[in-house]
Amino acid sequence: MGDQTGFPVLIDGPAIKKRVTELAEAIDADYEGQTPVLLGVLTGSFIFLADLCREMKTRCEIDFVRVDSYGGGTTSSGDPALTLGAKLDLNGRAVLVVDEIIDTGLTLNLLLEKIKSMGAADVKTVALINKRAKREIPLEPDYTGFTVENGFLVGYGLDSAETMRNLPYIAISEKKE
Ligand code: IMP
Ligand code: MG
Repeated sequence: MGDQTGFPVLIDGPAIKKRVTELAEAIDADYEGQTPVLLGVLTGSFIFLADLCREMKTRCEIDFVRVDSYGGGTTSSGDPALTLGAKLDLNGRAVLVVDEIIDTGLTLNLLLEKIKSMGAADVKTVALINKRAKREIPLEPDYTGFTVENGFLVGYGLDSAETMRNLPYIAISEKKE
C-alpha cells in the first residue's frame, strides 16, 4: 500500500512513539500523587492524547474541549472561540491541556484563561509540536514533543481540511500556508 499523500515525512512513527514515552515519563514524575485532568483539544489531539495517556502511569481523568479558529483554511483566523466546554468540573483540579500543536498561541492562551476562570488549582500544557515562526502570544508549553520553525504539518492528528489526521507519522504538506 502506498502512502496517502506523497508528502515528505518529517517525524516517523517510531520517533513519535519514543518522544511520547519520554513526555509521559516527565509528566508522571511531575504529577506524582495527583490525579490530573488531561484536557484534550479536539479534534487534533485525539491520537496524541490516546498514546500519551497509555504511556502514563499516573491516575488521571480525561476530557475534551473544542476550540475553533481555522474555518477549514490553513491559517488561523486569529479569533478562536471555545465551542465545546469540558464536562468535568475543573474547579480545584490540576489540569494538563493536551494539544497536538501550538502555532500562534491564541488557542492555548484562550484555553488557559478559561480554565483558570473555572477555578483550576493548576494548569499546565503539553504540545506535541511547538511551531515557532508565527507565535503571537509569548507562550511556551510546559512540555514540548518536537520544535519546528514553520511549515504546515499533517498526520498523527494534524489535518489539512479535516483529512490526513490518520497518518501514523507527521508529514509536511506542500499546501501553501
Ligand atoms: P494556534 O491557535 O495558532 O496556536 O493554533 C492552534 C491550532 O491550529 C492547532 O491546535 C491546530 O488545530 C491548528 N494548526 C496549527 N498549525 C497547524 C499545522 O501545521 N497543521 C495542522 N493544524 C495546525
Ligand atoms: Mg488543535
